Amino acid sequence: MEEHKASEGHATDILIIGSGAAGLTLALRTADFARVTVLSKGDLQEGATFYAQGGIAAVLDDSDSVDSHVQDTLKAGVGLCHKNVVEHVVANSARAVNWLVDQGVPFTTRDAVEADPPSAALVADLTSLHLTQEGGHSHRRIIHATDATGKAVFQTLQKRAQEHPNISLLEGCTAVDLVTQTAPESSGRTCVGVYVLNQVSNKVEVIRSRFVTLATGGASKAYLYTSNPDGASGDGIAMAWRAGCRVGNMEFNQFHPTCLYHPHAKSFLITEALRGEGALLELPDGSRFMPKFHELAELAPRDIVARAIDHEMKRLGCDCVYLNITHKPADFVKEHFPNIFQRCLGFGIDITTDRIPVVPAAHYTCGGVVTNERGETDIANLYAIGETSFSGLHGANRMASNSLLECFVVAFGAAESIGSKLKQTELVSHIAAWDESRVTDSDDEVLVSHDWDEIRRFMWDFVGIVRTTKRLERAHSRIRLIREEVRDYYIKHRVTNDNLELRNLALVAELIIRCALQRKESRGLHFTLDHPEMLAAPEDTLLTP
Ligand code: FAD
Ligand code: SIN
Repeated sequence: MEEHKASEGHATDILIIGSGAAGLTLALRTADFARVTVLSKGDLQEGATFYAQGGIAAVLDDSDSVDSHVQDTLKAGVGLCHKNVVEHVVANSARAVNWLVDQGVPFTTRDAVEADPPSAALVADLTSLHLTQEGGHSHRRIIHATDATGKAVFQTLQKRAQEHPNISLLEGCTAVDLVTQTAPESSGRTCVGVYVLNQVSNKVEVIRSRFVTLATGGASKAYLYTSNPDGASGDGIAMAWRAGCRVGNMEFNQFHPTCLYHPHAKSFLITEALRGEGALLELPDGSRFMPKFHELAELAPRDIVARAIDHEMKRLGCDCVYLNITHKPADFVKEHFPNIFQRCLGFGIDITTDRIPVVPAAHYTCGGVVTNERGETDIANLYAIGETSFSGLHGANRMASNSLLECFVVAFGAAESIGSKLKQTELVSHIAAWDESRVTDSDDEVLVSHDWDEIRRFMWDFVGIVRTTKRLERAHSRIRLIREEVRDYYIKHRVTNDNLELRNLALVAELIIRCALQRKESRGLHFTLDHPEMLAAPEDTLLTP
């Protein structure tokens, strides 16, 4: 792949921080009318998008309706979804899928599922797509590329972006902080560029841009056990907060019920589509437990399934529960879940004959930078899209496969918003260079790794699936101390990718804890033994810097 590197004085029209589904969609939707630069702190593929399995929720079938998808989303979000945003996103779901098919994403078709050997095939007719089922959805409405949807989407969009003459893709470039200015005629702030650590030169460079978009993904790395890749340290949320944006609903951390429990399987998810196709959750003795927790049993919304597993594991003192799909024909399992079948086989688990040991793990950040359905933030010319944002779509609990959908639809809206403002938005002529005259090289990296481990462990123990006020307060006092240490280290040393991630993770952990302490009820993903009831009037938790 052609690799570009940020250079001193780099300038662009639209700077997108993040090369996942949200960032690449925005790039492709704007590149015909503007110069676009996309940054990724690691390899381009190292976001959550590449690992997405189940699929994308969309209303494509005659027996389904926009209203039904809207109602399911509102129900899963337990009173906190912003209805106008849900209606907008769902109404645009078929448009988003159409665009993805146009880009060339090889979604699985009904015919391909029945073919021998099974395959993913490019289609033009949306009604020919195979639809699978996931929790909370009252219809089969999940389009997918076998059980590796994110990889198919990412690789297609990446290829398109690489081919586009107006798009520069920069790997190994970590955004450090946003640069904002106050325009003479206005009281508000405007984003004019970004400081970026070039990991090859180890220098912090300036990129000036007419528009900046945060598409940096979520913050699930704040927890010890997670389905997310290593870079999910909440950088965009932290940068936006430091620049003056509001952040909301950070207490709603989604725990996916079924990650593979195996000493060598780091972060491997077992897609919810497995339960959608009939897999059952069992205790070590083989008995089912979900029917006693919810009428939808294994297909109840994720918060309920994860909490039920947590409850049963604590009650029995067992290390995991089991997902069982052995009652389905082996060919059916291999056809629908070829990647999971192969991956588990690599760990000695044949999912056609063996039960799969599973545990919950932190999976998705429902809150984030406050935006509207076009990704516009509190700061002019700054956008936030995808998992880093809090658009109002997910409420207190995100429904399966609504996340990728949000990435596409909100990126479409952001592209339209940027397009309408491009002509009247000037590039600033100068941004002060990064000053490192008073710092030295980092000399004690063990401090960074120790703080990183400590945060993730107490977040898991004290701010996890089941919370109490005492545990949250304990976490709050720990994080305040760690943040002071991190701040001290940051101002004395040259920045590295690791200490930048730690600085962001520590801040985001504090935002999660503050939001959790503020919510005096249990709702959706936030469950506390001290306030087990739900209040009558649902309210977002909003924090202002
Ligand atoms: P990401 O894809 O996470 O991309 C973030 C990008 O930001 C990366 O390029 C990263 O390098 C870059 N970045 C971050 N910080 C910086 C920085 N400081 N400087 C420069 N670059 C930075 N959702 C669904 O709807 N359906 C599914 O089937 C599904 N399955 C999932 C399976 C797994 C295992 C996981 C982890 C998530 C899944 N999700 C699914 C959730 C969904 O994949 C994510 O919410 C979505 O992909 C997020 O996309 P994004 O573009 O916002 O961010
Ligand atoms: C999964 O495939 O179970 C993940 C789907 C999602 O997170 O939306």
